[in-house]
Amino acid sequence: MIEEEVRTPAAVRDAQRWTAHNYHPLPVVVSSAEGAWVTDVDGRRYLDCLAGYSALNFGHRHPKLVEAAHAQLDRLTLTSRAFSHDRFADFCRELSQLCGKELVLPMNTGAEAVETGIKVARKWGYRVKGVAAEQANIVVAEGNFHGRTTTIVSFSTDEDARADFGPYTPGFRCVAYGDLDALTAAIDENTVAVLLEPIQGEQGVIVPPAGYLPGVRRVCTERNVLLLADEIQSGLGRTGTTFACEHEDVVPDMYLLGKALGGGIVPVSAVAADAGVLGVLQPGQHGSTFGGNPLAAAVATEVVRLLATGEFQRRSAELGARLHAKLQALVGRGLLAVRGRGLWAGLDIDPALMSGREASERLMTRGVLAKDTHGSTIRLAPPLVITEEELDHAVAQLAAILAE
Ligand SMILES: Cc1ncc(COP(=O)(O)O)c(C=O)c1O
Repeated sequence: MIEEEVRTPAAVRDAQRWTAHNYHPLPVVVSSAEGAWVTDVDGRRYLDCLAGYSALNFGHRHPKLVEAAHAQLDRLTLTSRAFSHDRFADFCRELSQLCGKELVLPMNTGAEAVETGIKVARKWGYRVKGVAAEQANIVVAEGNFHGRTTTIVSFSTDEDARADFGPYTPGFRCVAYGDLDALTAAIDENTVAVLLEPIQGEQGVIVPPAGYLPGVRRVCTERNVLLLADEIQSGLGRTGTTFACEHEDVVPDMYLLGKALGGGIVPVSAVAADAGVLGVLQPGQHGSTFGGNPLAAAVATEVVRLLATGEFQRRSAELGARLHAKLQALVGRGLLAVRGRGLWAGLDIDPALMSGREASERLMTRGVLAKDTHGSTIRLAPPLVITEEELDHAVAQLAAILAE
């Protein structure tokens, strides 16, 4: 065994021995991190170009977020929603204002935000739109990824995510992503919502054709259907704007948020909508013990304040332009295609060269952490605090493995 690999192999084996194998992680065992860098149990440093699937938009242990968490840990961490607490109102107001919506409903994980959106849309359909009982349908897109609950996997088109988890929840219609005609045709008088990712992250950072999202917005308005934008991965600065919908001036009826909202410290998710939509919920109809808890609220309020400065969106836009220019130069030199916006890129590696998994492993040995999604596609989503030099370093390592 080479000297610097003293602890990693055993730590990898131990973790495999004691957990369900629902993930296939890279063989790296991280023990500390700061900003865009992580350090493993053997003291090796890696540039984190996945950023917790965008949950770490502000980097590891952003000083303001850690400070907010520490201060809150010393005062109050949980009340449940049976009582209120002194961090709740500020958090909800500031997040609502960031979203330009009248109300928010905080939850914990992304999947819970999606479930919340689905429940609210159905109830809105029955109580406001006047859909007949039990008849509501929601239009979704092929290639979607909205989480892992039984209802959400019911409308997944990824067989790995879906197979063997039935019986499936009815009430969803799936159409090709980016095809406005197909989406329009799927809407009927019982359609209560269209649920979409403005950019499909897990599918490989798929950006829909220009005009698609505005078209969806127009159709939803004309047909009295709610537009639910799942910005759990695409939102909160990742694409160079607060929300990916902004690139095409689209304002959805509901934002579904998660990941970066918790600052990489605690799981925090939320939906944001106006009172005519979120107001359909009454006491007892939805909730979560930990939703909007004091620790979550303290950290997420600070996240909202970081975003309100606009600095992270600006960094993502500027560095993202640099990243995409450099990646485009590799198309034809090992890359077949590059997609994305801001500091977010899906790269299709020539499968004749290597699989996405192999690319991730080779990058890892060169000190860059990224992860494959499907087949030969890998995704780059570094923390928005990454510097120009660090970004250039990551692309140089990619170019090196493509040339090897
Ligand atoms: C677009 C999108 N929606 C929802 C989710 C689910 O979030 P969580 O894993 O926090 O439940 C994810 C997670 O990757 C996601 O990318």
